[in-house]
Amino acid sequence: MYDLMIENARLYPMDGDAHLADARSLAVHNGCIAALDAHGPAREVVDAGDRVVLPGFIDCHTHALYAGDRMREHLMRLAGATYAEIARNGGGILSTVEAVRGATEAALVEATLPRLAALASEGVTSVEIKSGYGLSLNEELRMLRAIAALDARTPLEIYPTFLGAHAVPRGMTKADYVREIVDTMLPAVARQGLARAVDIFVEDIGFDLDDLRLIFERAKALGFELRAHCEQLSNLGGTRLAARLGALSCDHLEFADAEAIEAMAVAGTVAVLLPTAFYFLRETRKPPVAALRARGVPMAVASDLNPGSAPVASLLTAMHMAATLFGLEPEEILLGVTLHAARALGQEHCVGSLATGKRANFTLWNLPAPEFLMYQLGGLRPDAVYIEGRRI
Ligand code: NIG
Ligand code: FE
Repeated sequence: MYDLMIENARLYPMDGDAHLADARSLAVHNGCIAALDAHGPAREVVDAGDRVVLPGFIDCHTHALYAGDRMREHLMRLAGATYAEIARNGGGILSTVEAVRGATEAALVEATLPRLAALASEGVTSVEIKSGYGLSLNEELRMLRAIAALDARTPLEIYPTFLGAHAVPRGMTKADYVREIVDTMLPAVARQGLARAVDIFVEDIGFDLDDLRLIFERAKALGFELRAHCEQLSNLGGTRLAARLGALSCDHLEFADAEAIEAMAVAGTVAVLLPTAFYFLRETRKPPVAALRARGVPMAVASDLNPGSAPVASLLTAMHMAATLFGLEPEEILLGVTLHAARALGQEHCVGSLATGKRANFTLWNLPAPEFLMYQLGGLRPDAVYIEGRRI
């Protein structure tokens, strides 16, 4: 006896490609997908009425936990200032660090809940959330505890990432801060089990290749997955090194070159593309999508939700932009928010597609076809969202 049966559905399993399945039904047991094309009794039967069923979307790159806003910086940018100039003049990430340090853990959670609700309303069932606005041991731990609290407070599956290496805090040299990350912060985060992955912002306003190597080697030894922000504003070679050190994903990649792409292809690293940040910062250099495709590098798409470069609590908007701005094909984008996003989080064994044994995270849509999500912008919502077989 299954717990739940979805019948009469157009299933798009996203299991390798983005095609419509022959199967018309999906059975759920104990929170997992028990079978496709199943028959047999179930405690609850839902007639999908020929609607589209997709795996729950995975937003695999966000900085959704923050306090305050950076509206004034955005207005400065609209008047011509660049992201890097604002950062060098004391704005940027460090201004959000001040706001986060001034907020209680409860206030951080309350500020983030509506942003997660906005993502969930669009069919997102898993969200990665990075720290990185604390920049000291205690403040980073506080952010990570708030992320754990969000996991308990929402039905969403939350994947916490430690991004201590997001910016150098005021009053410290980069070398001293990197030493603190390596010697103190990484072991503490590991001991407390508060993050699955470690991320770093490789850029001349962030961290360099030596920092990347030091942090990744220690993180790897402590059992963390590795991710990196690379080649967003310039080409420093972070992608090549991160991929060689075993990064699950390299993210942004506007300035990635052939060597970077080759290193990702060899290592099986996922390219996480973030068109909202490209759009919001009014960048002109696009990631090398055709070359990534040609070399078979899996591409994911994420919202990058953050107060500075992408105050965009909408994965559907990122998906639309991935098509119109970056030239990804609709099928690539659908895989980019399901199977490939799961891979970027090292979770492809349990989420990201409609496959037997994976968690029963899926959504029902009244759409002519999934590609419609890359056509209409705004106003699209799933009729139902299920996480581990329960409707939320
Ligand atoms: O992914 N580039 C670094 N991190 C973020 C921006 C964070 C911020 O500006 O607050 C990004 O774009
Ligand atoms: Fe980011």
